[in-house]
Amino acid sequence: MKRVTIENVSKQFGQLYGVKDVDLEIKAGEFFTFLGPSGCGKTTTLRMIAGFYYPTKGKILFDEQDVTRLQPNKRNIGMVFQNYALFPHMTVDENIAFGLQVRKFSKTEIQRKVDRIRRQVHLSNYGDRKINELSGGQQQRVALARALVIEPDILLLDEPLSNLDAKLREETRIEIKRIQSELGVTTIYVTHDQMEAMAMSDRIMVMENGYIKQIGTPQEIYHRPVDRFVANFIGETNLIEGILEAIEGEEIQVKTANGHIFTGRKQQSSPALTHMIGDKVFISIRPESIHLGTGDNTLTGKITFVEFTGISVNYIVDCNAFSLKVMLINSYDQIKKIGEDITIHITHDSLYFLGE
Ligand SMILES: Nc1ncnc2c1ncn2[C@@H]1O[C@H](COP(=O)(O)OP(=O)(O)OP(=O)(O)O)[C@@H](O)[C@H]1O
Ligand SMILES: [Mg+2]
Repeated sequence: MKRVTIENVSKQFGQLYGVKDVDLEIKAGEFFTFLGPSGCGKTTTLRMIAGFYYPTKGKILFDEQDVTRLQPNKRNIGMVFQNYALFPHMTVDENIAFGLQVRKFSKTEIQRKVDRIRRQVHLSNYGDRKINELSGGQQQRVALARALVIEPDILLLDEPLSNLDAKLREETRIEIKRIQSELGVTTIYVTHDQMEAMAMSDRIMVMENGYIKQIGTPQEIYHRPVDRFVANFIGETNLIEGILEAIEGEEIQVKTANGHIFTGRKQQSSPALTHMIGDKVFISIRPESIHLGTGDNTLTGKITFVEFTGISVNYIVDCNAFSLKVMLINSYDQIKKIGEDITIHITHDSLYFLGE
């Protein structure tokens, strides 16, 4: 396993930037995820690490070695592409062995390595099966085995679960995580699925339009997003606009357009917020942090939407100038109907303040 340093890297396609000023260090053995919407530059960054693109500007290092312009086959990386890129008429073993043959290992050595990795991805008895006789999840594991069998310093995975159904996605996500932590290989994972990113990663880089928006642990990104884009992208949230009305010690008050005052804690603010009275502020409130009944920040509103998901009851509550998505767990016996009034509250700690 190796450390990956990306030093101030940009990639231009003609006049357009695919990626701009990306600066980050991925630790040896870390599970690191690039997360962001379509076109934000995830694959471009991954391809520069793999050597399929050279940066227009900046440097890429594996440990101390400058690999910026090194050919892909000299980097000792394993890569799984979105469509797996397996050879459909070849067997599982022939597919897995491909990278070892290119590297000129002996026949017995190849078979030993292939057998071992096949066990690791739980395909022990599938060596002679053709790829087109496998399920999507099994094919995914062959692609993973093929990338891992060469014992890469760095494993690159570009949306490897996107072809799978929801249940298989979750199972395979757990498998990838298990194999990665057993082998301890530095792994860079690309996805636009925030749940997947949160569940798998040691750290996440959120990207937008070729730029880094935020780098942090799943908890940091979820609870302390730097701006509205990140807050919205990482899970569901309610964003309410208001004006900073008062600060008293650690307490802060924000007034909404309909005159409602929310009270929260100053420390629960994005670092970008300047805390000047009269500033425009956005309050981020996660649906699951809203509770039934009265308490801090009590509100009453009308229900405009109800949904039962099995885990929770979700409401949309119209509070005049704003509506709130509310997610209630363990309140199935008293599900309310559209048109009914509901009283809810939000603890001071559950408000998070963002700038414009
Ligand atoms: N070879 C190329 N030539 C020109 N523009 C490109 C090329 N590759 C990528 N781009 C542009 O660079 C930007 C970033 O693309 P990239 O493929 O990195 O996005 P992405 O984050 O992987 O998106 P997705 O989630 O859709 O895969 C996009 O605007 C894309 O159109
Ligand atoms: Mg992509």
